[in-house]
Amino acid sequence: MWCAVISLFPEMFNAITQHGITARAIQRGLVKFHSINPRDFAVGNYRRVDERPFGGGPGMVMMAEPLSKAIQYAKQLAQQEIGQDVPVIYMSPQGKTLNEQAVCELKQSLPHTGGLIILCGRYEGVDERLIQRYVDAEYSIGDYVLTGGELPAMVLLDSLIRRLPDSMSDAQSAEQDSFVDGMLDCPQYTKPDEFEGLAVPDVLKSGHHANIEKWRFLQRYQRTQARRPELLQHVVLSKQQQKWLKELDNVSSG
Ligand code: ADE
Repeated sequence: MWCAVISLFPEMFNAITQHGITARAIQRGLVKFHSINPRDFAVGNYRRVDERPFGGGPGMVMMAEPLSKAIQYAKQLAQQEIGQDVPVIYMSPQGKTLNEQAVCELKQSLPHTGGLIILCGRYEGVDERLIQRYVDAEYSIGDYVLTGGELPAMVLLDSLIRRLPDSMSDAQSAEQDSFVDGMLDCPQYTKPDEFEGLAVPDVLKSGHHANIEKWRFLQRYQRTQARRPELLQHVVLSKQQQKWLKELDNVSSG
């Protein structure tokens, strides 16, 4: 996966380029990462990248010109390195909400697009004409406003990178997460057997794999029902899972 972020604060991306699974994916060459600062493309003594909004109002707006040059430079880099024209994604509260499905769709588009350019806004946003001309998709990470698009861009990159084949040490763990089959995750436990008077459920120490699978499914189902019941509308249960639920009904009604 090839990726370039356009940001006034490129150092913020050290959080994912220098730590954890995402850093390892870069070191191992699964991800090629570039950060590009639009200030490097700004002109004048002050290298301005923002101006007051036409029509008045508070705050500043990012100017189209330095951003368009930064995007063109990123596109040129993509051509040189992977020979493709990669799409531009803009992180903003006005975008489509990022969820598991959106991440999966983006990930599935990667073999065709080769990668992506992520534009991070600051201040009150970006001149609309830049968005009109250059942006292919706009994503929000939720209905709240942050001071910039860098954290949302890292959220998107982290969720994409952990889905790349070979990026996780346990190949199954990305597949077994919350949301992958539409339900929340089950509770997890590790050593010691007892913590502040709380024990680990016996079934998890039984070594009985079928019982563990059943227990985990029921935990996930009940958690989802209690916390996010709307998710269950789209869940497709296997025959075995339906049987486990029926047994549960019989126990509680009997
Ligand atoms: N920039 C500021 N707030 C944002 C949000 N919620 N999602 C994406 N980008 C943003």
